[in-house]
Amino acid sequence: MSGRSARGAGRAPLPSPAGAAGYPGGMPEPRAFRDEPVSFVRRSGRMSEAQERAFAELAGFYVLDVPRDVAWTSVHPEARLDPAVAYGRTAPLTVEIGSGQGHAIVAAAGANPERDFLAVEVFRAGLARTMLDADRDGVRNLRLVEANAPEVLSTFLPGGSVDEAWIFFPDPWHKKRHTKRRLVRPGFGATAGAALRDGGLLRLATDWEDYALQMREVLDDAPEFERAFEGEWAERFDGRVMTAFERKGIAKGRDIRDLTYRRLARA
Ligand SMILES: C[S@@+](CC[C@H](N)C(=O)[O-])C[C@H]1O[C@@H](n2cnc3c(N)ncnc32)[C@H](O)[C@@H]1O
Repeated sequence: MSGRSARGAGRAPLPSPAGAAGYPGGMPEPRAFRDEPVSFVRRSGRMSEAQERAFAELAGFYVLDVPRDVAWTSVHPEARLDPAVAYGRTAPLTVEIGSGQGHAIVAAAGANPERDFLAVEVFRAGLARTMLDADRDGVRNLRLVEANAPEVLSTFLPGGSVDEAWIFFPDPWHKKRHTKRRLVRPGFGATAGAALRDGGLLRLATDWEDYALQMREVLDDAPEFERAFEGEWAERFDGRVMTAFERKGIAKGRDIRDLTYRRLARA
């Protein structure tokens, strides 16, 4: 732990684990396999000492406990987060899907202490980095979930509990035979729309033109959403910090495209 960590810097000790909601009555048996292709490949490899330490010392506070279904990254169909329990208060919730190293969400959580933030990621080293940076910055309004994002949106998050959902530089799956693995594919409007409150915002950015067009087509067609931008593409979102993925896209000469959609009122 660096000298700037919460405990090392003499800040208040981290409270006990955030935890998820209780699960009375037991759970049905898990299913044998997933119905849908996932948008990630689990990366293996050893974690560094710092990353191991992040999980050992910080996960109790930052990482929410998720009952699983078929796989380690799955979400049990009856698992529900209680945000008031997880954050110890009620505040507008921003969820970042595929938060990577956590640069955007740690910066946003630090700059907006009146809001709550949830990072959804399956990449353990990224989750470790996110916790280390959050702890270094004294960020306490952030929690992490190590799980498959569509299941978090449709199952773990209570309906209408999310104020904003962010998807920045999702894996492009650019080979034709792989595009079915894209996170934002037909049907994603219903998945994101379930978690977002009426009037809530879905913000996206990508450096892959073909994926940007697909995102726009999928969300234009989704009955749950309307465009929250004029013209072809949305303005760059102020709260989106520059990450390595954006930098790489720019270095390769690719244009960055932002999109913003508003969740329509439920009937
Ligand atoms: C290309 S990276 C971008 C990371 C970050 N948003 C940024 O801009 O730096 C995409 C991330 O999404 C994560 N990811 C992909 N599919 C996911 C899913 N279904 N659930 C959770 N995380 C996912 C990957 O592990 C990866 O870290």
